[in-house]
Amino acid sequence: MLGVACSKSGDASGKVDFATQIKPLLQDRCVTCHNDETFAGGLILQSKVTAFVERPSGKPIVPGDPAKSSLYVSLTLLDSERKAMPAMGHRISDAEVALIKRWIEQGAVWPEGEAGMIPAKKIHKGES
Ligand code: HEC
Repeated sequence: MLGVACSKSGDASGKVDFATQIKPLLQDRCVTCHNDETFAGGLILQSKVTAFVERPSGKPIVPGDPAKSSLYVSLTLLDSERKAMPAMGHRISDAEVALIKRWIEQGAVWPEGEAGMIPAKKIHKGES
């Protein structure tokens, strides 16, 4: 049998796309805390410029090397560890963790400028 139950993020071969695969995940599960108002842990995951800043604990993202990227490592820690992410709510799925890993392996392509900006989901103020 071919291609049974292959979810869109479970495809282990294709090139990971920031806009459709990484950005929504970060926006839904990470930027809620890691934004420019709350900046949990001093980390802002809303743009390439802020997300790649080196921290005392190392670099959040080391293109090509997930094991050195705290952003990936934090997803693989046990629940009981303080730095296990997301810090609240359910953990992200194995498929999503694998997706982040693959994205970093492929060079962690994160567009500059508008395409790479991830707005925090805040209370809607009804602007249109
Ligand atoms: C509920 C709020 C919250 C959410 C959601 C959240 N984080 Fe965090 N994050 C924190 C806090 C608080 C810290 C600081 C932890 C510490 O050092 O004690 C942190 C720290 C980190 C660090 C730095 C770890 C280090 O080595 O210093 C990374 C990387 C990180 N988070 C990634 C993520 C990713 C990726 C997601 C989404 C999958 C995420 N976080 C979701 C609150 C959150």
